[in-house]
Amino acid sequence: MGEPVSQTPPSESGGGFKRGMWSSRTGFILAAAGSAIGLGNIWKFPYIAGVNGGGAFVLIYLVAIVLVGYPIMLAELVIGRNTQASPVVAFGKLAGPESKWKMLGWLGVLTGFIILSYYSVVAGWALNYVLMSVCDFLSNKSPEQISSLFDKLYVAGDINLFWHTLFMLLTIGIVFGGVKKGIERWARILMPMLFLIMLILVARVVFLPGFVRGVSFVFAPNFDKLTAAGVLEAVGHAFFTLSLGMGAMLTYGSYLSKKTDLVKASAVVCSLDLIIALMSCLIIFPIVFSFGFEPDQGPGLVFKTIPVVLSQIAGGELLAILFFLLLAFAALTSSISLLEVVTSHFIDSFGWSRKKATLIPGLLILLFGIPSALAGGGGLFSSWESIVGKNFFDTVDYLATNWMLPLGGILIAIFIGWFAPLERIKDEFQTGSKFKHIFIVWLWAIRVIVPIVMVVVLLYKVRILDL
Ligand code: PHE
Repeated sequence: MGEPVSQTPPSESGGGFKRGMWSSRTGFILAAAGSAIGLGNIWKFPYIAGVNGGGAFVLIYLVAIVLVGYPIMLAELVIGRNTQASPVVAFGKLAGPESKWKMLGWLGVLTGFIILSYYSVVAGWALNYVLMSVCDFLSNKSPEQISSLFDKLYVAGDINLFWHTLFMLLTIGIVFGGVKKGIERWARILMPMLFLIMLILVARVVFLPGFVRGVSFVFAPNFDKLTAAGVLEAVGHAFFTLSLGMGAMLTYGSYLSKKTDLVKASAVVCSLDLIIALMSCLIIFPIVFSFGFEPDQGPGLVFKTIPVVLSQIAGGELLAILFFLLLAFAALTSSISLLEVVTSHFIDSFGWSRKKATLIPGLLILLFGIPSALAGGGGLFSSWESIVGKNFFDTVDYLATNWMLPLGGILIAIFIGWFAPLERIKDEFQTGSKFKHIFIVWLWAIRVIVPIVMVVVLLYKVRILDL
């Protein structure tokens, strides 16, 4: 069993530096939703929904969020708020300072480090497209010319490196400001803007001829096209999109006050994430169908089709600027949560100042991301192939999202369900909540449903389960 509930005020952890706190429940919700809503919602979700036939996939994804995503988010918030610490220290507090469970915290820090290194490269593409849209680079070009711009960008190592560096510096700059003055302040500015931009774009596509077809593609379940692999992909994506499995929500939960209702807050964050993912589809698919594109294009969907289309409709240049700004904002509020996991780890575990704990890991991530930024361009890193036969970028992406996040998630569920001090967890879950009675439902979801679903997903990935 772990040590008794710590009475130490949070201000005493972190090498004598006052541990930050969200200024209000809304501040937390915006920051947590900012972490969840990111490239996963706007770039990835539409293209995997497109590949998997639309409606039925969306439905399965919804079920995955309710059955797996929501319980794990609650678990992370419970651990974070109870221990008031970042992952490694948090597991140490709950399981004992010598416990092997602390490695789960390390896994989270490492995962955050790796994801941010290439996430920043994709965010850099969005920044590049903002600039291209502002410079009117997309007008007067044929669809082929516009589509090929992405292929050119992908191989332009120097340009990717430039944007990757800029985006990392922005992320470092915000996290540097701390919880309230950095993360929360920027989430308060960027999240409402993101929502507004989405509304403008939805309002515009309503008038496109393919709107009705787009809507029915997203909402009418068509089970013919859905494969077992698609179902598993939906479960895996629920993880990534909700920022689960690596301690991001745990860390954000550690800055929460006891007054917040965790049951409700998690529900709000999951719902906001879902709404944005659906709105992204509502923007992209009407465009796809209005212009006769195929919905199952894969990762290029957003970068290759959106600019083509926007260059052809009235007000398109402005919409293109807005769309890519949206993508960059969404990425920024997620990247700061990735860095915060690493930063808070160095503050809590080694007593570093926030300044040092932001700068050193931030710059190391910047460096580690260089091979990803150069993965498409000629030279050293593009010819590098890992054992899984992928370039550096694809390898780290594959490792982190397919293995490290699900593994982290299943271990968090097993730890909290079977090994953490039950009374303490129950107490934390119910503190400040009006929904105390659902504790038992949540507990069994975490103990049984989540591990079973995740083991099936992992077995399928190692190809032991051939679906
Ligand atoms: N949830 C983010 C997205 O959808 C990505 C992310 C994953 C952020 C894990 C933090 C932790 O883009």
